[in-house]
Amino acid sequence: MKRFPKKRIMITGAGSGLGRAIAMEFAGMGWNICVSDINQERADETLAMVKKSGGNGFAVFCDVTKPDQLDALGESLMKQWGGVDIVVNNAGVAAAGFMEKIPLETWDWIIDINLKSVIYGCRTFIPILEKQGGGHIVNVASNAGIASLPEMSCYNVTKAGVISLSETLRAELKPKNIGVSVVAPTFFKTNLMDQFKSPDDRQKKMASAFFDKSKATSQDIARHVVKVVDKNKLYAITQTDGKFTWFSKRLTPELYFNIMGWGYKRGFGDKFLGV
Ligand SMILES: NC(=O)c1ccc[n+]([C@@H]2O[C@H](COP(=O)([O-])OP(=O)(O)OC[C@H]3O[C@@H](n4cnc5c(N)ncnc54)[C@H](O)[C@@H]3O)[C@@H](O)[C@H]2O)c1
Repeated sequence: MKRFPKKRIMITGAGSGLGRAIAMEFAGMGWNICVSDINQERADETLAMVKKSGGNGFAVFCDVTKPDQLDALGESLMKQWGGVDIVVNNAGVAAAGFMEKIPLETWDWIIDINLKSVIYGCRTFIPILEKQGGGHIVNVASNAGIASLPEMSCYNVTKAGVISLSETLRAELKPKNIGVSVVAPTFFKTNLMDQFKSPDDRQKKMASAFFDKSKATSQDIARHVVKVVDKNKLYAITQTDGKFTWFSKRLTPELYFNIMGWGYKRGFGDKFLGV
């Protein structure tokens, strides 16, 4: 982290789960943290925790689906700190369902929050980072964008988009001295189910079962994010099942999807999850 002596980080969706855990990791290293969230109460809670753990900063309301609110956030960071070193586009929601049954409103909702928000965040902060001579962008995607599990199309599409955007920016922003990392975890317990949407109860049960089976914590993922940024790596794939999916899909994509289809048709996933 010697690249960033001014120690300034902004995290969206930092009122809960992974965003809060990332804030706490940086707080422990004495950073200034801009905790932003659509839920002001939770953002204030995170800020209080940050201050208790040795960090500093401020909490701010920001709905990431509104580009003007992200622009205002950028301006406020310029005023308060004269810039920002690490930008974490983390805010997100989850939804699932059979493709033909997912309502169009759910598609709009999830694309706005999970994908367009990251586009807006990058548009707002790239010029700020460039002007100050560099920085780092962390986009939070998901292993869903790699694994492409059935009945999760709307979530998978948004996260695959975030991975593609991050991969593109990795090279595009190199001449501007801006590092890019993309975080692709499998399931870990957070409050993500609070806003979960699915047309059938079945997908809610499946998602809950995945969360219950997970042994990883948001702190595990956050610690890995710190390492990845420190080493200026592109991918943060923390869990073993995520690494396995990543390698098998890349090495043998046809086989990967044939095995997935074979198992899905026979209901192996349902048996594994108990739904
Ligand atoms: N938990 C998992 O298993 C998991 C796995 C892979 C990826 N992720 C990703 O991690 C990120 C963080 O999710 P989490 O699991 O910590 O969930 P979480 O629900 O605990 O935290 C998400 C935060 O985003 C905020 N948020 C939602 N909509 C917003 C908006 N429009 N503007 C600003 N903030 C908004 C929420 O208020 C909340 O504080 C998401 O992008 C999610 O897709 C989570």
